[in-house]
Amino acid sequence: MKRDLIDITDLSVREIDELIATAEDIIAYPEEYREKCRYKKLATLFYEPSTRTRLSFESAMYELGGQVLGFSEAQSSSAAKGESVADTARTVSCFADIIAMRHPKEGAPLVASTKASVPVINAGDGGHHHPTQTLTDLLTIKREKGRLGDLVVGCCGDLKFGRTVHSLIGAMSRYDNVRFTLISPEELRVPESVRSELLEREGISFRETTSLEEAMPELDILYMTRVQRERFFNEDDYVRLKDSYILTPEKLRTAKPDLAILHPLPRVNEISIAVDDDPRACYFRQVLNGKFIRMALILKLLEVE
Ligand code: NCD
Repeated sequence: MKRDLIDITDLSVREIDELIATAEDIIAYPEEYREKCRYKKLATLFYEPSTRTRLSFESAMYELGGQVLGFSEAQSSSAAKGESVADTARTVSCFADIIAMRHPKEGAPLVASTKASVPVINAGDGGHHHPTQTLTDLLTIKREKGRLGDLVVGCCGDLKFGRTVHSLIGAMSRYDNVRFTLISPEELRVPESVRSELLEREGISFRETTSLEEAMPELDILYMTRVQRERFFNEDDYVRLKDSYILTPEKLRTAKPDLAILHPLPRVNEISIAVDDDPRACYFRQVLNGKFIRMALILKLLEVE
């Protein structure tokens, strides 16, 4: 039976650990992987803007010796003529061996996965989930900190609409002794579903605060996020909230010397460029990790040895 990746919890902790191990092996021995997906095709169906996610998927497939087809905006596909996601997914199954889909509507990749005859990977669905960003984040944390448990993880910014945070909480809450500090304005706190279905149901230790300064000294990981302008109902609210948090070298003075600063990117204002040269800034290394973990994921879903 084909496997899809729609929600990060579609993968067991063991499978995630195996993907991380494969990614680390790819990093160590890239030449071993250059022909693994020869004659295989990846379709990238992107109904929403993307730089890293789409290009890292495409680069991942090329580095495995495979090929890529697809579209990077809905307007250039038959979606513009009114075709359903379900029909597009069935159609693309005729042309590709695996599909990565990003869509502004929550649940669209899930619908696609039920109609496609090939594996479907959710590359971000609305304000919902973004499991491959989370795999990227986990590989980054593993490489930077050497472990995925025993960590205080601070998530800062738009925790309401930020899909990367929802998936990250879903994944990290399954590792031992992970505590979350959720830093956001009142209006952008994590949605009730994340609070009740993930944090409270699983008995995960978490606290909420509006102050980044107050949280800083305890953090092992600081996961910064962008305020998700495209998901706001009105521009005034966005303008009022967009600069709630701006990470600067001054704010890092009270941080641990081995803090790891992550950001799924794109960054707008929330991390000053003056932070980029701090050795604790991991966000550009994180981008590169995204390619390696997607290579590992493609291999797994295509069942390549
Ligand atoms: C994120 C996304 O699309 O959710 N970006 C990404 O995939 N690297 C974060 C964001 O857009 O803010």
